Amino acid sequence: MNVAILGYGVVGSGVAKVIADCATGSCLNYVKDLAVTAIVDIREFPDDPYADIITKDAAKVFADPSIDIVVETIGGATIAYEYTKQALTAGKHVVTSNKELVALHGAELLEIAAEKNVRYLYEASVGGGIPIIRSLRRDLAGNRIERVSGIVNGTTNFILDRMEHGGIPFGQALTEAQELGYAEQDPAADVDGIDARRKLAILASLLMEEDIPDDIIYTEGIRHLQSVDTTIANRLGYKLKLIAAMTRDSEDRMTLIVAPHLVGETHPLASVHGVFNAIYVTGNAIGDAMFYGQGAGTLPTASAVVADIIEIATVPYHEACVERWLPLETDRLILHEEAQVHAFIRLSSAIADRVISALAAYEPRTVITENNSQAIEVGRSVFMSEGALAKCLEEAGVSTDDYAVLRILPL
Ligand code: HSE
Repeated sequence: MNVAILGYGVVGSGVAKVIADCATGSCLNYVKDLAVTAIVDIREFPDDPYADIITKDAAKVFADPSIDIVVETIGGATIAYEYTKQALTAGKHVVTSNKELVALHGAELLEIAAEKNVRYLYEASVGGGIPIIRSLRRDLAGNRIERVSGIVNGTTNFILDRMEHGGIPFGQALTEAQELGYAEQDPAADVDGIDARRKLAILASLLMEEDIPDDIIYTEGIRHLQSVDTTIANRLGYKLKLIAAMTRDSEDRMTLIVAPHLVGETHPLASVHGVFNAIYVTGNAIGDAMFYGQGAGTLPTASAVVADIIEIATVPYHEACVERWLPLETDRLILHEEAQVHAFIRLSSAIADRVISALAAYEPRTVITENNSQAIEVGRSVFMSEGALAKCLEEAGVSTDDYAVLRILPL
């Protein structure tokens, strides 16, 4: 199989390296015959070992009958979208690491692939090197997946870890994550939860076989969190993690959320540190399973891209397992406002009385006082919906800088 790589950056160069290593015996014997025969990039790489196959002419690559598979590692949803459509239309299989593109246009691109009898595979778009997409699509296809809870953004996991263990403020931890190359070009996508919600949209679309737009997912990032939140979490027996979660009820209705959550310290997700990701899956047959590994970085992400290439090279195209995301049926979603919430709310002591009185009907309980902040628990003794919680906070007139809702991840 001959492979063309679009975008010779962090991930694209990793793909070239993994394939080159494979040819010299680092992989299983039956996948030795892969070769990178073209690389498309607008930049010049005169001293690169692949300099003689680097071109700016994508159209020529798509027209080349010797190319079987196109790897899209450009990122973004503009030129990558156009090139992906052109490559699929030209009858090339396409493999991508581009979560933004898959979340935004996955349904359409899968449809074009189906029409052209080629594959559009996106293992590397969620969880970096973790084999989660193929595990859900193939190995767990015999299950009804009831819940997925994931740590799917390495940057925010790294930042929360540094706030907890290094005792450093959010801004300093973010600078460290940027220096280590984990963050997106615009780190707002990481810290505001957008990257995680794109990944959740991909997982939910795959599992529900419907096109779930990422912007309908209720999303909170970690920008408003303070070191005291990790201290409160620890004192209560939890770890604070940015969780992307999907729950499916017995009527096939889903709740979807990306937000900071308290994870019980004995839960497997509590031991996921630094840039590592993990996806905790509950299926009716398998029960609980956790998939763990490096969620970002050149070689881990390239490992997932190469896994898709190997699938194309070794598994014949078969109509029976063509993936399609149909238009979303609107009654499949439980509105965020209707979802049940059980949480600790961290408040500065100055506003605590106001908030406690706005929440009075829900029997709030102050459980901890720490460093001029209080944590009060709601949703344990009296049912509380997310909508009711938001309304009470609004009535209390507090601003988002004054508090944090630390939801408890259900077991
Ligand atoms: N910025 C992303 C992260 C990269 O931190 O997880 C991998 O998708």
